[in-house]
Amino acid sequence: MTTTPPVLSGPAIREQFLRFFADRQHQILPSASLVPEDPTVLLTIAGMLPFKPIFLGQKPAEFLRATTSQKCIRTNDIENVGRTARHHTFFEMLGNFSFGDYFKSQAIAWAWELSTQVFQLPPERLVVSVFEEDDEAFAIWRDEIGIPAHRIQRMGADDNFWVSGPTGPCGPCSEIYYDFHPELGDEKLDLEDDSRFIEFYNLVFMQYNRDMGENLTPLEKKNIDTGMGLERMAQILQQVPNNYETDLIFPIIQTAAGIAGIDYGQADEKTKISLKVIGDHVRAVVHMIADGISASNLGRGYVLRRLIRRVVRHGRLLGIEGEFTTKVAATAIDLAQPVYPNVLERQTLINQELQREEAAFLKTLERGEKLLADLMADGVKEIAGVDAFTLYDTFGFPLELTQEIAEEKGITVDVEGFKKAMQEQQERSKAAHETIDLTVQESLDQLANRIHPTEFLGYTDVQSSAVVKAVLVAGALVEEGKAGQTVQIVLDQTPFYGESGGQIGDKGFLNGDNLLIRIEDVKRESGVFIHFGRVERGVVQVGDTVTATIDRACRRRAQANHTATHLLQSALKKVVDEGISQAGSLVDFNRLRFDFNSPRAVTTEELQQIEDLINQWIAEAHQTEVAVMPIADAKAKGAIAMFGEKYGAEVRVIDVPGVSLELCVGTHVANTAEIGLFK
Ligand code: ALA
Repeated sequence: MTTTPPVLSGPAIREQFLRFFADRQHQILPSASLVPEDPTVLLTIAGMLPFKPIFLGQKPAEFLRATTSQKCIRTNDIENVGRTARHHTFFEMLGNFSFGDYFKSQAIAWAWELSTQVFQLPPERLVVSVFEEDDEAFAIWRDEIGIPAHRIQRMGADDNFWVSGPTGPCGPCSEIYYDFHPELGDEKLDLEDDSRFIEFYNLVFMQYNRDMGENLTPLEKKNIDTGMGLERMAQILQQVPNNYETDLIFPIIQTAAGIAGIDYGQADEKTKISLKVIGDHVRAVVHMIADGISASNLGRGYVLRRLIRRVVRHGRLLGIEGEFTTKVAATAIDLAQPVYPNVLERQTLINQELQREEAAFLKTLERGEKLLADLMADGVKEIAGVDAFTLYDTFGFPLELTQEIAEEKGITVDVEGFKKAMQEQQERSKAAHETIDLTVQESLDQLANRIHPTEFLGYTDVQSSAVVKAVLVAGALVEEGKAGQTVQIVLDQTPFYGESGGQIGDKGFLNGDNLLIRIEDVKRESGVFIHFGRVERGVVQVGDTVTATIDRACRRRAQANHTATHLLQSALKKVVDEGISQAGSLVDFNRLRFDFNSPRAVTTEELQQIEDLINQWIAEAHQTEVAVMPIADAKAKGAIAMFGEKYGAEVRVIDVPGVSLELCVGTHVANTAEIGLFK
């Protein structure tokens, strides 16, 4: 008979882990943001990510040993969330790190001590794995720890060689598994069998840097990187059937169940899955928004949008009518608060973002439902693939939802037809922007580390030579793009402004040897500029040198609108209220929009005054001055920054002396007179 360990709460597990390593001279460091500093990664995916430059020897270590509980998000398994016992988008990774200090033997000894003494996991319930070639780790487990050889399994590189991405610091690893069913005996220890085993602690012996050619170069120092899944440990120690039913997530599920009028204990499997998805995703979105991410159609913003939409959709599947996400978020915020106070501080922002996204998506769903009702007229047996695709493409109506609703009426959906319609549209390269953007992101992820952030030359140049680093068609990486195709191009450097700070991307041309590409828009993601355009003539290939030229007339209008936005903010503060703050903005070639928070409504007279004041500043022909300086200096000068925006150590400051002083990455007129007129 084997014993079960004592029950521990999630916060207690986190606390005891950190305490154990603090007692062993590890510095406890706070979790880094979900938005990594590393420009090649979309989101923080592991506890080691903030330490990557230290492992690579690019940055000195402030401490030789550190321990953290790191917020992480992984979306590669999003479809499994709620369906398996332990897949997450958001999770916390507990880790202990050695930067050239202790190594394999010590890391293993402490992992064992922590698991069996502190968390009191019975040794007979633990099985370990090592990398197949790592005889040293095998010997340590067998001879120093005393684990019987048959309970140490050798595994291949897929399982036991850990890399943080296609390239970067890496090394063989060793994992500790917990056995839920020791009564099944030792004859067939299949660690892949997740009804029996759960891997809860991974020890990475980080000692190589891997390059694109998969060559391993030894790092200057040998390091330790570990990861213990907090939710997994909680599942084990709280003796619940899955991660979602731990105290870290279950209260969120109960809030959602309460809103839906469902008793979780009595619910069927499908209902439970929806509740688990909501429990998992709401935690993720709350932390993402708190870390400064806002919903959009690209990159992290798209991940957030997708998660919120999934929450809303699963809410509908549970029969929840109307908006509910902020109520569920309140529970997630309460749970996060003791360790992540930024979440409560940002509660208003979180609620606003959720409300906006939810309302917009609900409207879309409603319009889709109307169309769907028409499609399900009497006598209909099947919904055509093309119609299901229209619902998806035009109304953001996911296929599964169409199927669900149709199913209730005994109607099927032509899924093959749906796929065909989707493919045809992609081939015509007319897929909705959203679809393209998502795949662009996936392709960029594949290229991570091969593509460097694009050098932006457009503050000074309107034309430059550039090398084509990547060509995408309908979001997928290709070697070349031909005349007639819609493409996305990544260059090493560019004069094209990429959408940011409210200002839209530049239009223009790329041309080369018998090559002409019309560029319609430019977006940026993690510092990489993606030029959206169409090949008008010739063929574009990776490696080509092209001349990139922006449409100066468009740029001039965008600049005028952008500087005018700054003047508008100043005028609002002067005329209406000093406390007015910017909430967002849009600067395009033809107009500007400025969103702001104001303690009160602006009167008609004030609008007139604002317009007059701005036109006066334009007539006075102020020179604008642009300077790059440390953020502290900019703040000391009184420059206005936007709340929730992430700024680097060095910032760009746009000064219209005596009128406006703002941090801004955008492009501006050299003199306010260029604006002409403000209406
Ligand atoms: N970096 C290792 C992991 O994520 C510990 O599993």
